[in-house]
Amino acid sequence: MKRDEIKDVLARGKAGDAVTVAGWIKSVRESKSVGFVHLNDGSTFDSIQVVVPENFPGREAVLKQITGASLRVEGRLVASPGKGQALDLEPASMTVIGECDASSPVQKAGTSYEFLRGVAHMRPRTNTFGAVFRMRSELSFAVHQFFRQKGFVLCHSPILTTSDCEGAGAMFQVTTLDAEKLPRGADGRVDWSKDFFGEKASLTVSGQLEAEILAMSLSKVYTFGPTFRAEPSTTPRHAAEFWMIEPEFAFADLADDRALAEDFVKSLLEHAFKHCERDLRFFDERVEKGLRAKLEAVAKAEFGVIEYTEAIRVLEKAGRAWNYPVSWGVDLQTEHERYLTEEYAKRPLFVVNYPRSLKPFYMYCNDDGKTVACMDLLVPRVGELIGGSQREHRLEPLLSRMKETGIDERAYSWYADLRRFGTAPHAGFGLGFERLLMYATGLENIRDVSLCPRVPGFAKF
Ligand code: 4AD
Ligand code: MG
Repeated sequence: MKRDEIKDVLARGKAGDAVTVAGWIKSVRESKSVGFVHLNDGSTFDSIQVVVPENFPGREAVLKQITGASLRVEGRLVASPGKGQALDLEPASMTVIGECDASSPVQKAGTSYEFLRGVAHMRPRTNTFGAVFRMRSELSFAVHQFFRQKGFVLCHSPILTTSDCEGAGAMFQVTTLDAEKLPRGADGRVDWSKDFFGEKASLTVSGQLEAEILAMSLSKVYTFGPTFRAEPSTTPRHAAEFWMIEPEFAFADLADDRALAEDFVKSLLEHAFKHCERDLRFFDERVEKGLRAKLEAVAKAEFGVIEYTEAIRVLEKAGRAWNYPVSWGVDLQTEHERYLTEEYAKRPLFVVNYPRSLKPFYMYCNDDGKTVACMDLLVPRVGELIGGSQREHRLEPLLSRMKETGIDERAYSWYADLRRFGTAPHAGFGLGFERLLMYATGLENIRDVSLCPRVPGFAKF
């Protein structure tokens, strides 16, 4: 079907141009003898106003339609006498493509996010979700652009894996065995050698370990793919399926890692200012007042850095009654993370060098024998946006960390080989893409930046 996209018509059309548009009705109203139809095709936030004159043939058939119906309009652009738009569309012919039943769940403006989550297949028709998914696409593109410009090679880490990167045991198992009739050995235990891969396999929690393979020959690589975590948490910041961007680069340490992460976040924000201007304006006006100014300040300012040990001191001295008490060695909880970035630093803050007991086996052990060379980037409202580290590239310390954390050395011998055969210091991080979107849109729940969110107890579609 030949048509003009409304984005192009609004940006470049001139009075007198003949255009054909197709889209979904945002609103219909009649004022005196004239009918107004706002039509949106998702190519941009704004709709085109079709002005239907009194004696237009087929006028009734169109004006009786409601929000959500799809429509094709051929006509001519005219200078709009009204406020709010430069051009109107004067129809020559209008065709209703698909009527919308009055029971459509997205009829009313101002419907709550929570309600819309229950009808996630219809919510992209709303202004908010249209803007979210345009921005999601634009920022995905920005991710690739950033790394490509810096000479990083895109690495497709596997989705099906037999490694557990984070060692947290929060993996979704993948099997073709019949759960009703599991093959068992003489000892009564399940015999996974009978499974599809001849061993236990899962969905990946992170593409890092496999990205390290490629970084040990191509030097600078990144993955951007879906990751899965079977954590039972139902916080607004956790999803069971989310996308992660993970650069991995050789001949680099924690300071290089931090610099890359800061540069990356700022460059994504700059991209949004430039290429998502209209959608961002909507989020600024309707979702979080002052969002754009806050993000602009972040893109300009230097991010803070604090040692974990110092962060604990700050929290101890904060004079707060924490729900989770703090002392050296405890993991930071959301309340602590938010205090540090929102009230203490008042900007994005890297917390570096956590106790090694809190972190996975692959992180570089610092000389103090107690901490690892890692970083978490905390940002206001969202908390942890990035987790990363310098990797343990020395064979012996790696093997002893594997032992300490109960990792089967045989299963990870390939990972140790990368240290045996020409090791090199290297570092990387993972940025949770949905968390970035929450940060950039002002939305407070991860379910509102995923098309079909997967969280405990919910995997519709
Ligand atoms: O801190 P994490 O667990 O780090 C890793 O997976 C490393 N292997 C990354 C690396 O160094 N290559 O996860 C990284 C980021 C977090 O900072 C957070 O933004 C996001 O992934 N994340 C989640 N996002 C949504 N839902 C969840 N359940 C998430 N878990 C982590
Ligand atoms: Mg983390």
